[in-house]
Amino acid sequence: MAKKRVAVLISGRGSNMASLIEAAKEHTYPAEIAVVVSNQPDAPGLARAQAQAIPTALVDHRPHGKDRAGFERTLQAVLDAHGVELVCLGGFMRLLTPQFVLHWQGRMLNIHPSLLPSFPGLDPHGQALKAGVKISGATVHFVVPETDAGPIIAQAAVPVRDDDSAETLAARVLEVEHRIYPLALRLVAEGRVKILGGRCLVEGAHPAQGALLVPEAERRQAGTGGRE
Ligand code: GAR
Repeated sequence: MAKKRVAVLISGRGSNMASLIEAAKEHTYPAEIAVVVSNQPDAPGLARAQAQAIPTALVDHRPHGKDRAGFERTLQAVLDAHGVELVCLGGFMRLLTPQFVLHWQGRMLNIHPSLLPSFPGLDPHGQALKAGVKISGATVHFVVPETDAGPIIAQAAVPVRDDDSAETLAARVLEVEHRIYPLALRLVAEGRVKILGGRCLVEGAHPAQGALLVPEAERRQAGTGGRE
């Protein structure tokens, strides 16, 4: 089967983008990164993609001012020019109009560093610490007009420690983000994810085998222990 052509949209460091580029190097991976698009000229992720010989494009939002639709027309033209079939948001910090989101419905993924529907929006790690949850994690979901909502494709859980700061928790969550995003994109690119009544069902796999990661449990099973 032909590999799905994917655009990764970034605004910053692009570590999730890098994890997708790395996964896509594997010859059996069902997707290829056709283009990386940034809305920020100085996004470090652009140079990271270029160093891997991935085509990049800058679609600066600033010349468009408040004209979101105008920005999205330029963005769509870039996606069309690269024959993009799936879009992955990776720390893309622009709100998209419902029209654009609906155009890409079921074909646009986002990653958010919390176990959605908990802690959407800004400062999810601060929100998690404030709430005192003992588990946090990351979610890959299909994008819908509402921010950080939409059918959940895959989640990964990490413990929250008593002495965590937003930074230490973010670092622990980021590690699982880099595992779960390639996994979720693989499932979608293979056509194994069906959306039914606002939920994702993964064909041919129990969720625990396909779309849920719990690294602490893995470590215990492997007998290497976790910090208790
Ligand atoms: C990631 O932690 C991602 O989950 C988050 O931004 C960071 C981008 O890092 N996204 C959101 O908060 C979306 N609401 P990266 O540029 O290194 O991938």
